[in-house]
Amino acid sequence: MRQLRFGSVELRPMRLRDRSAWLRLRSANKKWLDPWEATLPGQANFEIPFFSLLVAYRAEWRADRMYAFVMLNEGHLVGQVTVGGISRGSQSSAYIGYWVSESHSGRGITPVGVALATDFCFDELGLNRVEINVRPENLRSIRVVEKLGFAKEGFRRQYLHINGQWRDHHLYALCKSDCPEGLLQRCRSLLENKTASVGATRS
Ligand SMILES: CC(C)(COP(=O)(O)OP(=O)(O)OC[C@H]1O[C@@H](n2cnc3c(N)ncnc32)[C@H](O)[C@@H]1OP(=O)(O)O)[C@@H](O)C(=O)NCCC(=O)NCCS
Repeated sequence: MRQLRFGSVELRPMRLRDRSAWLRLRSANKKWLDPWEATLPGQANFEIPFFSLLVAYRAEWRADRMYAFVMLNEGHLVGQVTVGGISRGSQSSAYIGYWVSESHSGRGITPVGVALATDFCFDELGLNRVEINVRPENLRSIRVVEKLGFAKEGFRRQYLHINGQWRDHHLYALCKSDCPEGLLQRCRSLLENKTASVGATRS
């Protein structure tokens, strides 16, 4: 797999040595992430231990079902981007999910991660279509997909169980033919400007 990196942002598979940084990040951002986290119906406070998560991610990767990446900024773990729901054959599609720590939000890091993952879907996995589903209340996430030029295609009632309830979602999607040059390339100036200008003002 070619390296997935642009500027200070990198995506790579999770490793065993990510454990302490991962646990720290997840615990520090619980309040920030809870409203947007997928939950299991009837199972309150369900937490998968780090090692089980790593094993599951590796098995899913090998089976070509899901590709979970940790997202790094300047070499530090700051979030996650996941390519899931992979369908091959006549459909050849996947969805992308993502989060970033509150302290690294607003710096344009996630749009870079999503662009890298989208190009990975088209170029490495050979898929034709990538979907992103966002709750109508999640204005920050809607900005991410709109900035990247995903098309709003519809509304999915009670699409996912999030933070303890079935939640409606907007459906956004991008097809390979929408950006033959690649999403990163198409959004290059937007992504460079945002990370550069914020990077200059924040440590
Ligand atoms: C949604 C999310 C991934 C956006 O990531 P990000 O790296 O901050 O993305 P951006 O820096 O491009 O910010 C997106 C927009 O939200 C705004 N924003 C980001 N963080 C903010 C904050 N803490 N306070 C106010 N506004 C904020 C930005 O200004 C930006 O809008 P702009 O481009 O018009 O300036 C991030 O907010 C997050 O992880 N939220 C919690 C989990 C989540 O919602 N996941 C997505 C589920 S679909």
